[in-house]
Amino acid sequence: MMRTPAATVSPFLAVSALLLLLVASSVAANGYGGGDAPAGASGYGGHDDAPSGPKGDGGQDGGYQMPAYQKPVDGLDAGYYRKSCPDMEGIVQRAVKKALDADYTLAASLIRLFFHDFAVRGTDASVLIDVPHQSERYADASKTLRGFDLIEEIKTELEAKCHATVSCADILAAASRDAATAVGVPDWSLKYGRKDGKDSIAGEADRYVPMGGQSVTELIAFFESNGLSIIDLVVLSGAHTIGRATCGAVKPGLCDRRRAGAVERQYADFLQRKCVAGGDGEYVELDGETPTAFDSQYYKNLMRERGLLDTDQKMLPDSRTGGFVRAFANQPSQIFIHLFAQSMRKLGEVQVLTGNEGEVRRKCSAVNY
Ligand code: HEM
Repeated sequence: MMRTPAATVSPFLAVSALLLLLVASSVAANGYGGGDAPAGASGYGGHDDAPSGPKGDGGQDGGYQMPAYQKPVDGLDAGYYRKSCPDMEGIVQRAVKKALDADYTLAASLIRLFFHDFAVRGTDASVLIDVPHQSERYADASKTLRGFDLIEEIKTELEAKCHATVSCADILAAASRDAATAVGVPDWSLKYGRKDGKDSIAGEADRYVPMGGQSVTELIAFFESNGLSIIDLVVLSGAHTIGRATCGAVKPGLCDRRRAGAVERQYADFLQRKCVAGGDGEYVELDGETPTAFDSQYYKNLMRERGLLDTDQKMLPDSRTGGFVRAFANQPSQIFIHLFAQSMRKLGEVQVLTGNEGEVRRKCSAVNY
């Protein structure tokens, strides 16, 4: 593998992150101060904060049960392409680096593309299928997604070098990891062997991908039903420390919060002016303070009522998520980004197709025929 050596996290930070995670997990598992129980939050067994109980499948004698995400996923393996396409990771990494050298903003877009893919039928590259007006790409939720061309370019190179071998789902997982590490998230090792899905339905993207307007309860239920925990929700939402949003996506929530006096005045005025001048298609930075730095400023912004998306800002007053927001706002950024890497790894390992499921597409934009 020709990957550049990983950025490393000091042992002190790794231990601090672990402690924070443990404290946070136990707090969440114990009900965390009485937030409303999320609807449907029992999920499907992958919720790592859930207290152990009879329904789990990994426990022995009622003792410790390994959280679902820590169990090896059948069919995923770090050495999956070792023989069949040994330079797979190098090819992806070089292509991502070249693309980001030309356009740094693509890093945020690749991370988001990975999340949107995950949100519908797991990480199966369904978001990449291009069937006008029908596939996920054509959903309202996908309107501002970017990065499709880069993934297709990487696929073309991989097809030339290792025909019919590397799935688009694995390419997307690797590309989003490389995008994250390029903006300062510590590297994490990926397992491969995902297969590509054959279904991609625009209506499902609009139904499942959170785009704002959801309550914290709905967000928790969505994450838990996909095998992720409350802390994953708070940590992964921290992706909004980079990138941008359209005024169209921001305005409705912002207007409501402004009316309720729940947004910092000066900041609201600034956004209002920008959006009135530029219209719904105008872009605003998701983190107005340090828009290009992958840091914990996002959480500090929430503490000052400067969250751009109402779904983000709602996490502060909610008793299930607020403690995590405050903790990340008060800790060195490295703790958040270390946990971000871990949650991204989980994102790519839940609900994946492996083995004989799905297929390895020849083109990422079309199913094989
Ligand atoms: C928890 C629920 C979430 C909601 C409601 C949400 C909503 C949004 C919205 C409305 C935008 C702006 C879209 C636009 O107007 O163009 C956005 C952008 C973004 N989201 Fe999320 N998001 C969520 C979770 C996530 C997660 C889990 C990740 C990644 C792990 C993520 C990564 C991003 C990134 C990086 C951008 C900026 C994209 C760019 O600059 O191209 N989001 N999100």
